[in-house]
Amino acid sequence: MKISDHFLWGGATAANQYEGGYLADGKGLSIADVETGGNIDHPREIHESVHPHTYYPSHEGTGFYDHYKEDIALFAEMGFKCFRMSINWTRIFPLGDEEKPNEAGLKFYDQVFDELLKYHIEPVVTISHYETPLHLVKKYGSWRNRKMIDFYMNYCRTIFKRYKDKVKYWMTFNEINETMNKKNPYHQAGILFQEGEDKASTVLQASHHMLVASAKAVILGHQINPNFKIGCMVQYPESYPATCQPLDQIAKREYMLFTHYYLDVMCRGLYTNTCLAKQEQLGGKLIINDGDEELLRKGTVDFIGFSYYFSSIVSYQRDGSINAKGRNPYLELTDWHWHIDPLGLRVALNELYDRYQIPLFVVENGLGAVDQLNEDGTVDDQYRIDFLGKHIEALKQAIEIDHVDVIGYTTWGCIDLVSAGTGEMKKRYGFIYVDKDDQGNGSLKRYRKKSFYWYKKVIETNGQTK
Ligand code: BG6
Repeated sequence: MKISDHFLWGGATAANQYEGGYLADGKGLSIADVETGGNIDHPREIHESVHPHTYYPSHEGTGFYDHYKEDIALFAEMGFKCFRMSINWTRIFPLGDEEKPNEAGLKFYDQVFDELLKYHIEPVVTISHYETPLHLVKKYGSWRNRKMIDFYMNYCRTIFKRYKDKVKYWMTFNEINETMNKKNPYHQAGILFQEGEDKASTVLQASHHMLVASAKAVILGHQINPNFKIGCMVQYPESYPATCQPLDQIAKREYMLFTHYYLDVMCRGLYTNTCLAKQEQLGGKLIINDGDEELLRKGTVDFIGFSYYFSSIVSYQRDGSINAKGRNPYLELTDWHWHIDPLGLRVALNELYDRYQIPLFVVENGLGAVDQLNEDGTVDDQYRIDFLGKHIEALKQAIEIDHVDVIGYTTWGCIDLVSAGTGEMKKRYGFIYVDKDDQGNGSLKRYRKKSFYWYKKVIETNGQTK
């Protein structure tokens, strides 16, 4: 099988890491707007409100709000077929629980979509990518509360109707599966656990609310425009048993449960045996209302969007716990200690397609690295070309040799933006360098890196990496 001529090559971003303009034109505060910068040794802090004299990287991002025309022209120059971005929920509903949307926010995305369509670039929109309105967190406890489903639906109804002729590809929640994996699912679900909180029940209930919301969004979207393609989005934690000991194979299965939990519901439309096993393992309580199961059944997604950055090795420990932090001796590490594993992408694509048999979309993949801007305005990021080239080769093998149905590939942070994990600028992913540092200094001027010209060729040739 050959890569289709309609294959969606492009790049991916998220509003909270890229847009800036954090109070522009009536925008409200999102959970990202009270998160400080950090680095690999110092975690980002989360504040209750914006402190004066504190630097919050999302407030300016890397300036898409003011630079969108220039940036989209650069994406067009690379030949992008699609551009993945998120709508910032708080531009449309600044508090989140209003009935009427903020017209200025809606207008901004009209302009962005028009600009993309001018160059025949297909927008791919994440509805919720770490931009939950802060007010909903404070007043309602975020996704712990079932009311969130209505707020989310009001938001979805508004953007689906407004952009029904401009956007075809949507994804409901970014990396929804991390809700079960993180110490605090703040980015995914707006939740910081309180002291003494029954974490297992909170995670199960919040996840259920998000899964019902996702299903309702799929149903509604298809009613508004039957041509919509509405997907889910997970972080795919490719992993290998650390040894050939059979117990390590079971460890891998168990490690994957937090991802299959969400994918099973969103793709198969029910809590499968796998989900029930995971619920039991967690030991929390889950309330399912009448009618929820029918919604989950009817609201299955059209495609699976996923991010792939690295793989892990998993093993059983003597105390019965699973360790997924071991070092794979066959792989190199990035500067941020992530295993570099191009072939893991082929394995991931096969695993996902074997299990769900619906189209796949690699919506994030990339190398976070320190780049050097030279005096003549060039950046020699050959390491990024090597990294992406090998991953694209693995992607092609999955399509051409294994016959996996993949509809597109967007590299993460196609233009430099703020790191979600560490809040740094230093950890760059882009084909386009943006002049800004970890303290927020810089002109925001854009420069084409060496990889910019390389990716342009990849797209031109429909996937040739050399
Ligand atoms: C994914 C997120 O987890 O990984 C992005 O969807 C994030 O928002 C990306 O930026 C890379 O992670 P980081 O921490 O390097 O920004």
